[in-house]
Amino acid sequence: MILRIARHTNNLQLITEFYTQILGLEVLGSFENHCNYNGCFLGKSNLNWHLEFTESDELANHHFDDDDCIVFYPETTDEYNYLIASIKNNNINFVIPKNPYWKDNGKMILDPDGFRIVISHLRIKMNITIETKRLILRELLPSDDEGMFRLDSNPNVHEFLGNKPVVSIEESQKYIDFIRKQYVENGIGRYAVILKETNEFIGWCGIKFITEFENNHVNFYEIGYRFIEDYWGYGFGYESAKAWLDYGFKTLKIKTIYASAHIENMGSRRILEKIGMQQKNEFDSEGIKCIWYELENKAI
Ligand SMILES: CC(C)(COP(=O)(O)OP(=O)(O)OC[C@H]1O[C@@H](n2cnc3c(N)ncnc32)[C@H](O)[C@@H]1OP(=O)(O)O)[C@@H](O)C(=O)NCCC(=O)NCCS
Repeated sequence: MILRIARHTNNLQLITEFYTQILGLEVLGSFENHCNYNGCFLGKSNLNWHLEFTESDELANHHFDDDDCIVFYPETTDEYNYLIASIKNNNINFVIPKNPYWKDNGKMILDPDGFRIVISHLRIKMNITIETKRLILRELLPSDDEGMFRLDSNPNVHEFLGNKPVVSIEESQKYIDFIRKQYVENGIGRYAVILKETNEFIGWCGIKFITEFENNHVNFYEIGYRFIEDYWGYGFGYESAKAWLDYGFKTLKIKTIYASAHIENMGSRRILEKIGMQQKNEFDSEGIKCIWYELENKAI
């Protein structure tokens, strides 16, 4: 099936320029004086949807609601960043969406008719997949919500993480969205850990770019992990952390990777030591005594 969304406008030329030059659509076709209507089709030749704009002697009578919008879902960070840069370079202001969902999950602008357009990061596919002997490390997806809820609703998992387990799946869904936003903003973030044998989600591990001050450091790469309790004690923590450390040094070419753990979190500390992280100072994080670890990339 092919989808066409048609709208009348008084600004056919401006609208055409806006959707092509700023949002990267192509003019798929146009017509003039077709029963007094001029118009154009905007889309991409490989997509099965397009927009149609028409203009005639009759004035367009727009009554847009603040919740009316169309949403663009770029599928790569490059595509997303291109759109955002294009919007900024053309001095188009972002507006605050009425629906908070779009505030969290996209950026909103107005087209020349005042119609709302959202550029959302929600469908971006990350191109990193790491395979180890028993595990696949892949981007966290919205469909991991049940696994994330099983992970984070367990008080034992949160014993050394501030003792605040989640109580609803919505919190886990928001957390996944939050991590996916970091993929776009920082190019990296925590990744799902999938057990190859059963294809199950067993937790997460990965490198996060930290933009808040911690132990007098800011804007640094940190390695971290968290697993569903049923999968503790099988070496998955070590296997995934080692894979991410190697990836961070060899592929991402990070100069120094940092980590920290609650002083009594012996499992986490053992993983950091086993992958070769060097123990540094003891510090206080929100009233909790933690140990700081660092490792320099010798190849840089
Ligand atoms: C900490 C955690 C990641 C460990 O994962 P795991 O997959 O069970 O760890 P591994 O099986 O890879 O074990 C790695 C090493 O740590 C040791 N270890 C694991 N848990 C331990 C514990 N509770 N006490 C002491 N040592 C422990 C293992 O024996 C192993 O050492 P070894 O190879 O010398 O025998 C897991 O318990 C977890 O997700 N905890 C909750 C979340 C959390 O605390 N995350 C870290 C925040 S800093």
